[in-house]
Amino acid sequence: MLKSKNNVKGFYAGAKNLGDYLSEKDRYLSKNEKPKYKFNIIGAGNIGKEHINVTMMEGRGTVHGIYDTSEKSASVTKEMFQEYYPGHGLVVYKTLEEACSDTEVDGLIICTPNFTHIDILKEALKTGKHILLEKPMATTVADAYAIKEMAESYGSVLQIGLQYRYKPIYVEAVHEALERKSVGDLKTISILEHRIPFLDKVGQWNKFSKYSGGTFIEKCCHYFDLFNLFAQSKPVEVYATGGAAVNFTEFEYEGNPSDIIDNAFVNITYENGVRANFNLCMFSPMFYEELILCGDEGRLKASESENFSSLPANRNHLELIRVDGAPSKTMTPAYSAEIEASGHGGSSYYEQVHFINSIEGTEVQTVTADEGFWSIVVGSAAEASLREGKVINIEEHLVNNGIIL
Ligand SMILES: NC(=O)c1ccc[n+]([C@@H]2O[C@H](COP(=O)([O-])OP(=O)(O)OC[C@H]3O[C@@H](n4cnc5c(N)ncnc54)[C@H](O)[C@@H]3O)[C@@H](O)[C@H]2O)c1
Repeated sequence: MLKSKNNVKGFYAGAKNLGDYLSEKDRYLSKNEKPKYKFNIIGAGNIGKEHINVTMMEGRGTVHGIYDTSEKSASVTKEMFQEYYPGHGLVVYKTLEEACSDTEVDGLIICTPNFTHIDILKEALKTGKHILLEKPMATTVADAYAIKEMAESYGSVLQIGLQYRYKPIYVEAVHEALERKSVGDLKTISILEHRIPFLDKVGQWNKFSKYSGGTFIEKCCHYFDLFNLFAQSKPVEVYATGGAAVNFTEFEYEGNPSDIIDNAFVNITYENGVRANFNLCMFSPMFYEELILCGDEGRLKASESENFSSLPANRNHLELIRVDGAPSKTMTPAYSAEIEASGHGGSSYYEQVHFINSIEGTEVQTVTADEGFWSIVVGSAAEASLREGKVINIEEHLVNNGIIL
């Protein structure tokens, strides 16, 4: 996956500090290749810092500068950068325009709150630079469609930050279900996410649908992307129930009460007959994700688990039970400990690997704006289903939002 010319160097992926007593002359396996690409981070908050770390760790690129409207975010992130990467300079830009147009820089990583994405992206697109835009690409299906259209004529890479695809359990599940066809003809997909409440954010934007798009768009777009990926088809109907049972029921920010849900069930039907079901609970004292794929030749179950107690948690697990005596198996998909610890189970690191591979043209680009759009189509339809208390037909939903495909 690293596309190293010399595979033996791949053993060092994510472990750049090994052999830090060696001079450059004595390094072969751990040779620090001079980074070829420079990136600017727009929005230096929680995930902005993760992008800085995985960019520096991946090594083919470096972070040149940051831009953030909050002085505190900019200064804390700059301090973090200087502590972790001494000897590297970091430009702190005063305006978005300067950060986007700096000719030193090859790519822009946009990590600002959801409601700012479309306007920042428009500025970024003027530069022709490679762009990694955090998920969800927009807060509404209409804006997501506008971005998809802008992306179609864009000459450089425009990747959407739906990096859960690169978690070890999903990489292996894709290999089994889509490449090996281990479960045969896929019929049903279930995903469950049980986790702690949304974290604090700058301006608490994630507590309000008008800034985040709502929980189905903000958080669940990752899982709707996975459903779309496994189903290999387009959604036709979505039905959702849900509510705010525990979290933020008394939360107010600047006098405004939160309006986001914390639990839900969503059913999705695909054009090819695949049926999918999503179960969300955001008041669980853990992070737990589970995928179940059922086909006519087997069942695959994969899970990722992290709890905050001293109880053992089998972080990654995958089991495949097949019919007709075909070999079944259990396994523990994993990346190196250092890569997994770099954020989101290592998926952010591999998102960066794919981003640079796409820039270098060594692989076909994923995740595209089209894929990002379809994750929002399902999220937006789920939000509409919740509001209207009925099944949402996707074609009608798109037409109602001014989109005719
Ligand atoms: N891919 C993932 O798994 C993942 C995980 C977390 C967050 N995200 C996404 O990343 C984005 C940021 O989330 P976060 O958790 O880092 O939020 P955050 O609030 O921690 O950080 C956002 C930063 O953007 C800055 N900002 C706000 N408006 C800006 C503007 N117009 N220009 C420049 N900077 C601006 C804020 O001051 C803040 O420092 C969101 O879209 C979120 O959905 C993705």
